[in-house]
Amino acid sequence: MDERAPYIHKDSIPMDDFASFRRWPGRIPSSLGAHVAPIRPSREIATLMSTLTPTPRPGVLAIEAYVPGESKLPGGVKPIKLSSNETPLGPSPAAIEAYKAAAADLERYPDGQATALRTAIGNRYGLDPARIVCGAGSDELLTMLAHAYLGPGDEAIYTQHGFLVYRIAILACGATPVVANETNLTADVGKILAKVTPQTRMVFLANPNNPTGTYLPIQEVRRLRAALPDNVILVLDGAYAEYVRRNDYESGIELVATTANTVMTRTFSKIFGLAALRIGWAYCPAPVADALNRIRGPFNMSNPSILAGAAAMHDVAHTEAAVAHNDEWLGWLAAELEKLGLLVTPSVANFLLIHFPPAAATGAAACDEYLKSRGIILRRVVSYGLPDCLRLTVGTAEENRAVVSALAAFLGKAA
Ligand SMILES: Cc1ncc(COP(=O)(O)O)c(C=O)c1O
Repeated sequence: MDERAPYIHKDSIPMDDFASFRRWPGRIPSSLGAHVAPIRPSREIATLMSTLTPTPRPGVLAIEAYVPGESKLPGGVKPIKLSSNETPLGPSPAAIEAYKAAAADLERYPDGQATALRTAIGNRYGLDPARIVCGAGSDELLTMLAHAYLGPGDEAIYTQHGFLVYRIAILACGATPVVANETNLTADVGKILAKVTPQTRMVFLANPNNPTGTYLPIQEVRRLRAALPDNVILVLDGAYAEYVRRNDYESGIELVATTANTVMTRTFSKIFGLAALRIGWAYCPAPVADALNRIRGPFNMSNPSILAGAAAMHDVAHTEAAVAHNDEWLGWLAAELEKLGLLVTPSVANFLLIHFPPAAATGAAACDEYLKSRGIILRRVVSYGLPDCLRLTVGTAEENRAVVSALAAFLGKAA
């Protein structure tokens, strides 16, 4: 008898039989009937089948999966959710209309170039649409940048309390994450530059940063760019750029336009109120846009996202209203929290980092539990190296008042 096992493609075996075939490769699956000769794999193949398991590439299992801000409370209570830096104003009504209208064509593939969206972004900011790449949230663009430019042996730098997706994207490519310390919870150009080696290929800088809310003035960003080697891409993540009201702040458009190695990423999830649709964009040097377009999924943006995003971009009045609301309530919240004796990191974004004393009874964890018991969800930031802090997103007027009075009650003070 022939000792070699005949090849049987697994798809020709019904699932039930396939499970037993894997366990006892010599047995003939009953569904194949009597016309198949007895299956007996060679010893080598049998050994291989029992020892081989799919293995992720090095680095993948070192990733701690991203844990989003909490959104639900036990008992079905509708929470006041101030945990994910979403806008309290919701999206532009025009974006909602465009989203609904897109329901008429769900059987069609979207425009793989997301032309309407890139054109709307280009028009609003005076940019060349050919150098704009859209993604499923800026998360996808950060990941694509890492996949296009990083591999084993490469290093990429981010800062001590920087946005956690950078670390995930770097490790997922088999590259090495390098952390640069911050000064006063703010990125420090000198400390970033001190981490540069011949292996460095990318620097991720959230400006402003999440979860600290701090920022680097444009002069510092320019100094960083000028001192980085030319083969290092500087990724300026401007997820909160629209909120910043500081004369010395710029999101980086000019740096992208005037250098060959700077990329800016932006999102529709924050001020544009479209987090559920997953829309982000990157403004890139032409060769970087070309590289990203080669690796991105051909239809990575859905049609409802393209159309709603474009409509949101056109509605300048809506973003201005969101900025005005944020200006008013960010200042109010910071002042009220300080009156309660809480230390707050000065923020230029739509959230505040609140510091608690390390003592267990009055600490961040206890406060988080207390607030949840009152239906209010903030964000714990232990994974950002800030175990004694909570991050609070600016909400509606009522939500902001509610969180201040709950914090006052927690601290045993009158609000
Ligand atoms: C600094 C920063 N960058 C990027 C993102 C990702 O945003 P999205 O993928 O929703 O566009 C966030 C979201 O919280 C963020 O805080």
